[in-house]
Parts: sequence; structure tokens; C-alpha cells
Amino acid sequence: MTDFARTRALFALPPGVIYLDGNSLGPLPVAAQARVAKVLTEEWGPELIKAWNTQGWMDQPRRIGDRIGRLIGAPKGSVVMGDTLSIKVFQALSAALALNPDRKVVLSDSGNFPSDLYMAEGLLRALDKGHVLNVVAPEAVEAAIDHSVAVLMLTEVDYRTGRLHEMAALTEKAHAAGVVTVWDLAHSAGALPVDVLGADADFAVGCTYKYLNGGPGAPAFIYIAPRHAGHVRPILSGWLGHEAPFAFDLDYRPAEGVDRMRVGTPPVIALAVLDAALDAWEGVDLHLLRQAAIGLSEQFIKGVEARCPELVLGSPRCSAARGSQVSFRHPEGYAIMQALIAHGVIGDFRAPDALRFGFTPLYIGPHDVDRAIDILETVLRRRLWDDERFRRRAKVT
Ligand SMILES: Cc1ncc(COP(=O)(O)O)c(C=O)c1O
Repeated sequence: MTDFARTRALFALPPGVIYLDGNSLGPLPVAAQARVAKVLTEEWGPELIKAWNTQGWMDQPRRIGDRIGRLIGAPKGSVVMGDTLSIKVFQALSAALALNPDRKVVLSDSGNFPSDLYMAEGLLRALDKGHVLNVVAPEAVEAAIDHSVAVLMLTEVDYRTGRLHEMAALTEKAHAAGVVTVWDLAHSAGALPVDVLGADADFAVGCTYKYLNGGPGAPAFIYIAPRHAGHVRPILSGWLGHEAPFAFDLDYRPAEGVDRMRVGTPPVIALAVLDAALDAWEGVDLHLLRQAAIGLSEQFIKGVEARCPELVLGSPRCSAARGSQVSFRHPEGYAIMQALIAHGVIGDFRAPDALRFGFTPLYIGPHDVDRAIDILETVLRRRLWDDERFRRRAKVT
């Protein structure tokens, strides 16, 4: 039994705010504050550089990688932390392409996050070996998998619509055609049960500042299927991905297994925050979490469609085809979201017209959803959004 009243108490949510944006930036875990204080005052302060050894700082990326591994179905020792997700996409795609050297096509879809596509463009340009990036509609991915494709690179849950790809089925089809797979789990890890090993994914990457609540800019993770981990060659051959970093050799030899995807010095303080955030997941059954998230999403869709007819559902209607977020579309979506935020319901906006709402049972319950619907209805019925100050675009939407 997962006790969501217990998990809710683990987060420091501002009173009166209904936070429906954990799909973008998770809230502050209460325990993170004491953990950071500990790192500063008991580790860095008194221990100085000794702490790399005495406090296990150097092992953090693998130790925390194992904690993420439990949430994505990865075996111990197959996940490592570091850098941002864009960097991890670059590393994974490069390693995947090298496993299929005779093929020149990277297949992705238009629902992928732009940074993934940009990183692919940059990598293919730098490789200068005639690779092409083929971006098709999400529904067209399956049919586009054939023997010309080197790598299938997809984000499992669409950042804008919440549409969920079938990771196991697409990976199986890819493998049957000799295609290597890279899965971006940014909107999956901590949102729904993921089984990278069961789905036989070759590479998986993800961030930890969304559903995993690791804080703004928290380090990303990378998974390599154990069958590849011992022989892929890292494109970013940093010293901490070296077999013996402190031998200071002049030539690069990759470390054992997934450790070779480490690049430079780990962000110790950020990893400590993430470590504290991951405590909230102890004892959480991801299948129950998924059930609860679907319940909240369905409640929201039903309520909004009944009471806010001017909003058009932008997410798949079938809950099995959706991640843990719901989008509604409206030409004035930006102003509506700003007005909603001003009235205490925080979601976000993705151009051109999507209002996004994330449903995170760790700290959101049915009562919050009811209140959010009430406030959204009021904002629309009374046209509270129709105000110059809500139309002014901020840098981050
Ligand atoms: C699916 C997906 N991939 C990649 C990124 C980029 O991540 P980062 O800014 O950590 O490099 C994001 C950011 O939100 C994302 O949602």
C-alpha cells in the first residue's frame, strides 16, 4: 500500500498553491534542506578535499544511479548520473550510432523534445559521415522503422501532449530490423512504471528535476543495456570516464561499464539534493502511483470538459496512451495560464497553444484537482485572463 498522505508531507509546498507543474520542475523535498546543510557544514566545511573519499562524493554518480535504476527497471550498476539531459542524449546517440556503423539514418518524431533533435543535428554534422535525421509524425514512427535506420531515438512521453509511445513494442520492432534504440525518459521516470531491461532498450536517458524532484538543473542519468556497456566508446571522453582517472595517463581508456559515460567532476551538492529527493520514493509502488495519476488525470479531463467547453483536449483521450500530464488547447493559452497561476493554480504553457498540467500523486490529490477545476472555470467564465499583464511573455513560459 502506498501512503500518499505520507509522501505529500515530504514536500514543502507553499500554502494555498495547487502545483500542477511537477512534470516540469518538481517541488522542494523537505529533506533536501537539511541534506544540503549537512553537505556544507559537516562535509565540505570541515572535511575539505578529504570528503571526496571520506563522504563518498566520488561514488555518488553510481550510487544514485542505482536508486534511479529501481524506478526505471534497470539492473544495479547500469545507470550513472551527470551533466544535463541534452549531453546525455548526445552521448547515447553517438554510442548507438557506433553500434550500427553501416547505416546512416537516425529516426525520430516531431513529438520529441527540440533539444534532442538539436543535439542529433549537431552530432551528425560533427560526424560528417553523411548521416540524416528523419523526423516523422509520432503515429508514423512504427511504419518508418526499416533496415536503413541506424538508431531510433524517441522520447517516450511527448512533452507537449503527454502521448505515450509503446516502448517495448517499438523496441522489439526496431531490433527485428537491426535498429539500435535510444529512449528519453524525461517525462516517464517517476511518472509511470518503466522497465528498460524488460523492454530491452539499448540506451535510456532522463532528467531528474521533473517527477524525481531533484531541483532546478539537477543532474541527468544515462542507462546502457548491460550487453553494450563493456564495449561502447564514449564520444565525450572525460577524465572521470577513464579506467583509472587518478593514474593521469596521457591517453584515454574507457572505464568499466556505464562509468565510461561519466565526464567530469560530479556536482556534489546537486547530487545530495537529488539523493534526499529520492527518499520520497522508498516504499512507493509505481503501479499504484500510475493508477492514482490516471485517476487524477481522468478527473481533471472530465471536470474541465464539462465546465470549460472553450478548452480543447490536446492529449490522447485514452489514459493508457498518455503519460502523467494533460494538455488543453486554447488560442489565448498563454494568458489563461498566467491568470490561473495568479489565482494559485500552477501549470505551464507550451507554444503555440498548450496549457499543460501534470498529475503527481506524491503530493497532489483529488481535492486539489477539484479546486483547480473550480479556479480554471472562474478564470475562463469571468475572462480574468483578458488583461494586458497576462499577455506579456516572460522568458520562461
Ligand atoms: C524530453 C526532454 N529531453 C531533453 C530535455 C533537455 O534537458 P536539459 O535541459 O536537462 O538538457 C528536456 C527538458 O525539459 C526534455 O523534456
